[in-house]
Amino acid sequence: MTQLTKLFFSNTTKQSLSFLTMKRQQWQPQLQLLFYLFLLIATVSSSSSPLDPKQLKALKSLKILTTTTKDPCNSNDNNNSSSSTITCDNASPFRHVTSLSFKNCSSSLSLPYRTLKPLSESLLSLSFHNCPSLSPPKHLPISLHSFTAVSSFHHRNGLSGVYLARLVNLTNLNISSIPISTSGLYVILGNMRKVTSLTISNSRLSGNIPKSFHSNLTYIDLSKNLLKGTIRTSVSLLELTHLDLSGNQLNGTVPSFLSEIKSLKHLNLADNSFHGVLPFNASFIKNLDFFEVRGNSGLCYNHTVVSSKLNLGIAPCDKYGLPLSSQPQKEDSTSDDEEEEEDDYDDDYEGGNENEKEEQHGSNKIVLGVAIGLSSLVFLIIFLILLARWCG
Ligand SMILES: *[C@@H]1O[C@H](CO)[C@@H](O)[C@H](O)[C@H]1NC(C)=O
Ligand SMILES: *[C@@H]1O[C@H](CO)[C@@H](O)[C@H](O)[C@H]1NC(C)=O
Ligand SMILES: *[C@@H]1O[C@H](CO)[C@@H](O)[C@H](O)[C@H]1NC(C)=O
Ligand SMILES: *[C@@H]1O[C@H](CO)[C@@H](O)[C@H](O)[C@H]1NC(C)=O
Ligand SMILES: *[C@@H]1O[C@H](CO)[C@@H](O)[C@H](O)[C@H]1NC(C)=O
Repeated sequence: MTQLTKLFFSNTTKQSLSFLTMKRQQWQPQLQLLFYLFLLIATVSSSSSPLDPKQLKALKSLKILTTTTKDPCNSNDNNNSSSSTITCDNASPFRHVTSLSFKNCSSSLSLPYRTLKPLSESLLSLSFHNCPSLSPPKHLPISLHSFTAVSSFHHRNGLSGVYLARLVNLTNLNISSIPISTSGLYVILGNMRKVTSLTISNSRLSGNIPKSFHSNLTYIDLSKNLLKGTIRTSVSLLELTHLDLSGNQLNGTVPSFLSEIKSLKHLNLADNSFHGVLPFNASFIKNLDFFEVRGNSGLCYNHTVVSSKLNLGIAPCDKYGLPLSSQPQKEDSTSDDEEEEEDDYDDDYEGGNENEKEEQHGSNKIVLGVAIGLSSLVFLIIFLILLARWCG
């Protein structure tokens, strides 16, 4: 017994002695151990667990947490000027980051692999809003369920289709105002079997609408791109609620199968090159929350099926199914649309647009001048005739 205690004491003294003689750097593992112990105790005594230390370190290296942030999983704590938001799961002993959202990133932000890796294990949702100078992360966590990027990655000329195609577990993909280089949408969606919500808007996306979609898509927004060709029957096989194909170069007739998609609530086909008779009746159109077809100069509606009161912004059809064109009101609204369209383009076009408006002003003035001149002349003639009669 005494032998044992002696041994114990000598051991502890040795240890404490070695503690004292340690250099500062050697202290660190011991301190880390204490830190973990402290965290464990904290876990037991408090209701929610602390964040995984590896992930905490990664977040700190991103400088999106201030040094005073105690619990980054607590939304009140990360409500600071950096405007990045973090959400965590409720696992124990450690919580993990499940979603990360960057907004208005500073130009110094970067996301190197060593930072993203400890986060990738648990990260399900990643989003970037207005991070133009950021480079897209080289290795996106392929387990992501949701990826959003809006007005970001501009100095790298945007994103490639192949880059996005790797995210096979996505249910939600939202890319807006970022150029995408790819030979077609099929490249991106080929292996994304779980995707339910798809937005690729204002991204210079070219090619056709794919021959087939994975069947769980309910939300499609492909507006303001360079898509060509017709609306394929692949669209009819979805349980769709939202379809926005506006602002592309799609052509052909508007397929009647769209009216058979019972769940459809939002349909926008504006500003394309569709032609022929709109195959929808008034009750279908009224049942939608949103419907837009204007800006398709070859498209017309059958006035026996759809009342002009619906104000669709397209001409009624003649008996051959061609737009009746002699309507001054219609012409006005089309030119308005064209102006708006040009406003949407790059800033470079703005100057030209101004000039055009200026010119229009000029011609309006000329018309007004001529009108005033002519009417004065008519009044003068009438006056002279009356004068002559009075004198005579
Ligand atoms: C974040 O902070 C701002 C003021 O700094 C406050 O107006 C806003 O309500 C806060 N948001 C949340 C979610 O706490
Ligand atoms: C995608 O999800 C499935 C099921 O949740 C999972 O088994 C698979 O490992 C995931 N794939 C990737 C690449 O994360
Ligand atoms: C589509 O969704 C249903 C129900 O959520 C699911 O059972 C099915 O596996 C999904 N299909 C694909 C291809 O992911
Ligand atoms: C209108 O179109 C829908 C969808 O094609 C159809 O189910 C409905 O019967 C039509 N209603 C009328 C009054 O023709
Ligand atoms: C308009 O609808 C009526 C009634 O359904 C039909 O008889 C007519 O042929 C249609 N006109 C055109 C141009 O499609």
